[in-house]
Amino acid sequence: MEEEKKTKFVFIGAGWVGSLTSAVLASHWPENEFHVFDISTSIIDRWNSGQVPIYEPGLEELVKKSIGKNLFFTANKDIAFKNATVFFICVNTPTKVKGKGKGEVHDLKFVEACTSAVADYFANVEMKDTIAIVEKSTVGPRTSCFLKSLFSERQVKYKENKNKFCVMSNPEFLAEGVAIRDLEHPDRIIIGSDADVRSKLMLDKIVTLYSRFVPREKIITTSTFTAELSKLASNAFLAQRVSSINSLSPICEKLGIDVSNLSTCIGSDSRIGNKYLSASIGFGGSCLEKDLLALVYLARSLGFEEVADYWKAVYNINAYQKRRISDMIVQEMLNSLSFKKLTLLGVAFKKNTSDCRGSAALTVARDLLEESAHLQIYDPKATKDHFLREMQAYFPEEPLTEEMTKHIEFMSSPLLAAKDSSALIILTEWDEFRSLDYASLFEQMSKPAFVFDCRGVTDQEQLKTIGFKVYKLGVCLPQ
Ligand code: NAD
Ligand code: UGA
Repeated sequence: MEEEKKTKFVFIGAGWVGSLTSAVLASHWPENEFHVFDISTSIIDRWNSGQVPIYEPGLEELVKKSIGKNLFFTANKDIAFKNATVFFICVNTPTKVKGKGKGEVHDLKFVEACTSAVADYFANVEMKDTIAIVEKSTVGPRTSCFLKSLFSERQVKYKENKNKFCVMSNPEFLAEGVAIRDLEHPDRIIIGSDADVRSKLMLDKIVTLYSRFVPREKIITTSTFTAELSKLASNAFLAQRVSSINSLSPICEKLGIDVSNLSTCIGSDSRIGNKYLSASIGFGGSCLEKDLLALVYLARSLGFEEVADYWKAVYNINAYQKRRISDMIVQEMLNSLSFKKLTLLGVAFKKNTSDCRGSAALTVARDLLEESAHLQIYDPKATKDHFLREMQAYFPEEPLTEEMTKHIEFMSSPLLAAKDSSALIILTEWDEFRSLDYASLFEQMSKPAFVFDCRGVTDQEQLKTIGFKVYKLGVCLPQ
């Protein structure tokens, strides 16, 4: 334990993973230093000004406990890297938007850039202690080999440095909205390393780091490639479950079955389990889709077309679900949305987050804008700027026109968002949407008034009694 006291940990990337993980670890290790480095000075300035730049329940209080004591945010690489021995790579790994593998494989340019920064830093320092570069970002198997050679080949001045580092994989499994719970009480921690003495030494250090608050039996140590692949595979399995239940939702709607009852029947089998069986408008977020597509690419690049097709089908069902619902909305409203006001309730990719990255709402909103609808959006946490940025990022080849942008309005309450609207379209399962005063919203709306509940959070009988025409995903078509 004595040795741990001297360790300085660096997290590269002050986004969800870098900032949350460092904040949780800092709270458990007051005697150690945790430095978060980001190339974006504006992000670092926001962390240091006391404004937490992302919404995550419990995060603000957690950061306040340690910031300035043993948790530091900096855009100065030299300050961050000096005397550090463990470098967690927490930068974004989005899907490539051009070139080979476009639309599927991870773009590793940020991982490469920050590993180069660490390598360049050590190119001018004679290393005394062994350092570990730890992949926390989600990357495909064998990325560690690439990082090893990247680091090694830059050690020209002090050749011995080549024998004083290792690359490990410690993928992050937190889910947004419940991230602090996931970090404090993870189902498992996976740490992949090579088998040499140096790697084993650093592996022990990382195991110790977690074992102060995670039971040892939940810490799985394995090979680096296994750890790398385990992350892609886990996200693909989660995506597969959501697509499986979503594939049954149109069948339920036609047969008058409630998909949530079906989920209960299926999930009661302990071999299947009841998690990730909530039918929805489709999985969104920054990771399930991108990591699923990276697995598709990996399978195809290794020559396994059938395997690639299998996982691609999971993606296809997700795309189908989003399109089928926007098509139905358009059809139910007589294929004529021009000049119609529509209310989107929730655009974050799930409740309890401000994050709109990859949200199904981006696709639905886009489809409705193509039909010239005017969107009045209410989300308790997501902001217009972020929503517009993520829209551009999700449709890189179809920039929003000026006309479309004019038709995106963010409102401060559901009541304002419902004013003169023809339909309430619920896209995020925020708890407050379960108990809205729908009768008051109905009064504000033009008639006929529709509810398209794409998250199954409303009582359809109550809404029908108010006078709405109701669609509830996986339950009933509009009547
Ligand atoms: P993010 O986009 O929120 O943050 C990434 C940060 O890295 C940004 O602030 C960016 O400025 C910074 N950055 C980029 N290049 C840099 C460089 N060269 N040097 C320093 N900083 C740099 O990303 P995130 O959501 O935290 O995800 C990070 C990784 O973790 C991804 O690979 C993601 O797939 C994975 N992951 C994310 C989550 C999640 O819930 N968001 C969960 C598990 C794993
Ligand atoms: C997911 C994984 O759950 C994390 O383990 C992983 O670390 C993370 O991706 C990552 O790699 O970034 P996250 O994207 O934050 O976490 O959110 P999830 O709770 O998994 O939800 C993803 C999407 O699936 C959301 O749009 C959610 O609404 C949808 N979903 C989830 C359903 O439609 N139905 C469900 O039953 C569960």
